Order: sequence, then structure tokens, then C-alpha cells
Amino acid sequence: MSEFDGKIVLVTGCARASGMGRAISVAFARVGADVVATDVATAGTRNENEEGLAEIRLGWKGLESLAGEIQGLGRRVLTLVGDVSRATDAERFVADALARFGRIARPDDIARLALFFASEQSDHITGQAWNVDGGTVMH
Ligand SMILES: NC(=O)c1ccc[n+]([C@@H]2O[C@H](COP(=O)([O-])OP(=O)(O)OC[C@H]3O[C@@H](n4cnc5c(N)ncnc54)[C@H](O)[C@@H]3O)[C@@H](O)[C@H]2O)c1
Repeated sequence: MSEFDGKIVLVTGCARASGMGRAISVAFARVGADVVATDVATAGTRNENEEGLAEIRLGWKGLESLAGEIQGLGRRVLTLVGDVSRATDAERFVADALARFGRIARPDDIARLALFFASEQSDHITGQAWNVDGGTVMH
């Protein structure tokens, strides 16, 4: 059991074989997280003057290949295409991720907040109403 079991990570710019997004997605999957892998194009975009020969040699198919890699590690994956710099796409990423992997609050989620309020960790926090909703209030 790792501290990332049951966690979902949403990673953008994941479709290139040699990119940071793939590396980050796989690193999280290795330690137990499920992954929402996104990119602006299913095969990623190339830098100017780049032919992408390494990916052709690998038979790399962008998000589809990454999904296979993550599933091969025993984790769940959702791939999404969109431009993260556009608010509508970014909001859709979060909504689709929650629809696929989200969960409703459990009594234990509330109990941990009660413990926090009762502890010295919160001794200067007063008059607050806190949502325990897994981020639902944000969209
Ligand atoms: N801080 C550091 O040490 C460090 C190290 C390496 C890379 N970087 C930076 O990280 C970024 C990614 O590097 P990389 O090597 O993975 O690049 P990369 O070109 O291999 O991959 C970038 C991916 O992002 C996708 N993308 C571009 N615009 C997008 C958008 N608007 N919405 C969604 N996806 C989009 C592209 O399609 C591509 O697949 C770059 O900005 C790079 O400069 C930082």
C-alpha cells in the first residue's frame, strides 16, 4: 500500500514519448495513482524542425500508447484531448476526471476534519464553514 493508492493525478502535455508528461504520468502510476493523461493533440505536437523520428521508430501512438503503459502497471487511465490554456477545456478535464474517478464524501472524510478542528493544528482558525466535497464546489 502506497500513499498514492486511491489518488487520481491529472497531467497535461502527456503525448510525447520523451516528454515530461509521460514521465510524470508513469511515475505516479508506478506508486499507485490512477492517471488522467491529457494533451492538446492525441499524438502531441512537435517542436519546430523536429521530425519525431524516435517516436516513429518506437511505434509510439501518443496518448494511446501511454494508456497501455499505465494499464500495464495495473492502474486505471483516462485520456483526454484539449488545450489546457483554454478555461473551457481545463474545466472539462476536471469534470471528466471526476465523472470517471470521482467519489462522494465518506463519513471518515468529515471525521478527519472534526479531528483537525479539535486539534491544536487549528487553534487560530475560527468562524469557518468548510466544504468536504472533493472539489465539487469548484465547477
Ligand atoms: N523545470 C524543468 O526543469 C523542466 C525540465 C524539462 C522541461 N521543462 C518544461 O516542461 C515543458 C514540457 O517539456 P517536454 O520536454 O515534456 O516537452 P514536449 O514538447 O516533449 O511535450 C509537451 C507536450 O505538451 C503538449 N501541449 C502543448 N501545448 C499544450 C496545451 N495548450 N494544452 C495541452 N497540451 C499541450 C504538446 O502537444 C506536447 O505533447 C516545457 O515547457 C519545458 O520547457 C521544464
